[in-house]
Amino acid sequence: LARGVQEPDLRGRHVVVSAGGTREPLDPVRFLGNRSSGKQGYALARTAAARGARVTLIAANTQLPDPAGVDVVQVGTAVQLREAVLKAAADADAVVMAAAVADFRPSAYATGKIKKKDDKEPEPIVLVRNPDILAEVSAERARAGQVIVGFAAETDDVLANGRAKLTRKGCDLLVINEVGERKTFGSEENEAVVLGADGSENPVPHGPKEALADIVWDLVVDRLD
Ligand code: CTP
Ligand code: CA
Repeated sequence: LARGVQEPDLRGRHVVVSAGGTREPLDPVRFLGNRSSGKQGYALARTAAARGARVTLIAANTQLPDPAGVDVVQVGTAVQLREAVLKAAADADAVVMAAAVADFRPSAYATGKIKKKDDKEPEPIVLVRNPDILAEVSAERARAGQVIVGFAAETDDVLANGRAKLTRKGCDLLVINEVGERKTFGSEENEAVVLGADGSENPVPHGPKEALADIVWDLVVDRLD
């Protein structure tokens, strides 16, 4: 799958990529967040643009410059990410959910900063579930033949967990990253296997996030009508 000069095999296609990590506010100065840098999603956006696609990049709290020739939509929370993804997906040929979406958000937002009270212990933070955006776009398929890709970081029984998650989400491809001490978060490199709903299993050798991105687009192109 090594490539020299890139063919414009996504020309005429619209692809949607989500990147970064959602932040779920507790009060005006605090949030629940995660360590996703957004680099894999940005690599996906850049490589898709290089292959001729019109790209909508939905960026959640990344500190990265907008890639050239890509429409960037900035969002903060999972609920905002859902709205932006569903809107952009309406006419998309492919949707790639590389963003780390917070599974839960605080059930209440305090409009004023939460303060310590004398020497009392703090109130527990009550959480509610966020919508599952990948499952929703997979179930809805805004356009016939739309190809939908998820990402998952797994530990322990990585492949079995990944296979079960692919089925649960209903997407076409699921990129499984094995998470370890120094792997994946914030690094330039990645190691993965891409599982397909058709039973396929494509290992991705250790390498730059751009290389993984190109393999994802190869697999998407194979599945586009
Ligand atoms: N995802 C999503 N909406 C959510 C949670 C996850 O769209 N509320 C997407 C992510 O963008 C990713 C994929 O689902 O592409 C897998 O995310 P992951 O956190 O591994 O899945 P979960 O179902 O949340 O499973 P877990 O309990 O292991 O976190
Ligand atoms: Ca999750």
